[in-house]
Amino acid sequence: MDSNRKHVTVQLMVAVGTAVIGSLQFGYNTGVINAPQTTIEDFYNETWHSRYSEYIPPSSLTTLWAISVAIFSVGGIFGSFSVGLFVNRLGRRNSMLLANILAFIAAALMGFSKLAASWEMLIFGRLIVGLYSGLSTGFVPMYVGEIAPTALRGALGTLHQLGIVVGILMAQIFGIEYIMGNARLWPFLLGFTFVPALIQCALLPFCPESPRFLLIIQNEENKARTVLKKLRGTEDVGEDIQEMKEESRQMMREKKVTILELFRSPLYRQPLLVAVMLQLSQQFSGINAVFYYSTNIFKKAGVSQPVYATIGAGVVNTVFTIVSLFVVERAGRRSLHLTGLMGMAVSAVLMTIAMALTVSSYLTTFFKYYYHLD
Ligand SMILES: *[C@@H]1O[C@H](CO)[C@@H](O)[C@H](O)[C@H]1NC(C)=O
Repeated sequence: MDSNRKHVTVQLMVAVGTAVIGSLQFGYNTGVINAPQTTIEDFYNETWHSRYSEYIPPSSLTTLWAISVAIFSVGGIFGSFSVGLFVNRLGRRNSMLLANILAFIAAALMGFSKLAASWEMLIFGRLIVGLYSGLSTGFVPMYVGEIAPTALRGALGTLHQLGIVVGILMAQIFGIEYIMGNARLWPFLLGFTFVPALIQCALLPFCPESPRFLLIIQNEENKARTVLKKLRGTEDVGEDIQEMKEESRQMMREKKVTILELFRSPLYRQPLLVAVMLQLSQQFSGINAVFYYSTNIFKKAGVSQPVYATIGAGVVNTVFTIVSLFVVERAGRRSLHLTGLMGMAVSAVLMTIAMALTVSSYLTTFFKYYYHLD
């Protein structure tokens, strides 16, 4: 393989860096409602009081908060289903640019919800930012994968994952009481999503459209060549063009499989099972409960500074994401995943024993912590 196809140019770095702001946004909005839960619940309580002249019943508060947290995922579902509506019409880059409108609207809704004494605005904002995040999880890996040279596609692809965990960690740190996790500043904590959106909007016009989109979907070979020359820092891009053409020819040849066929044909049974089990093992690990609720869990377990425990979890999460980026090529996906599952099983058993014996609550917390590591 030609050595300059591994070459990382400034153009490529800027484009990848700008795109993964979308991943950062997804992570940030996943983690942002964790630390300020109690503070925002107080706001719901006060708002309820000023509307109905009584304090909010605990069950209503739980429901309202659960909706505020979970509606993000509802937005995410619709967002990720809608990716296809945009990428082939507007292009990858312009889709990312356009999606920022959602981030701006969401930031405004959430940022002004306190001023307007409206939890409806906050909830609606969470829905919109969920939509944006769902779209981003489609746009970003697609764009990065299509501008990256083949040799770097895997390595650059992991930056999406890294962007997410760094975003979560950022939100947890900003959620410290002295920073923005307090009654006065929490609207800024939620509205902060405006800032990365602005930065991405400023930078995207300087990033090229995906050469694959230009070549395969728009049939603009000259434009694709121009973009590739800039991204690769070389005049010799024939090989890249050839590769993309070959890939698309292959995709034309393979017949399209409908969702129904996917479930019916025995041919797809094993891959389908693997895909579903992988997703399930991640969802049932309980990691999402940690990202959304850990501060409250730690508080109930008797940790005096629960936000810092949450940040601890975020740091571990980030560090191990980085570690996994390095070891995944060497250790293999399957054995790494099995190790993680084994660790979770052991921790779950230890945690159960600790709880049953009601050893000091700190020990329980420690194991809870451990259990959620993976
Ligand atoms: C609502 O606020 C009042 C007054 O601060 C407090 O006594 C009550 O426990 C709060 N209700 C809930 C469900 O937190």
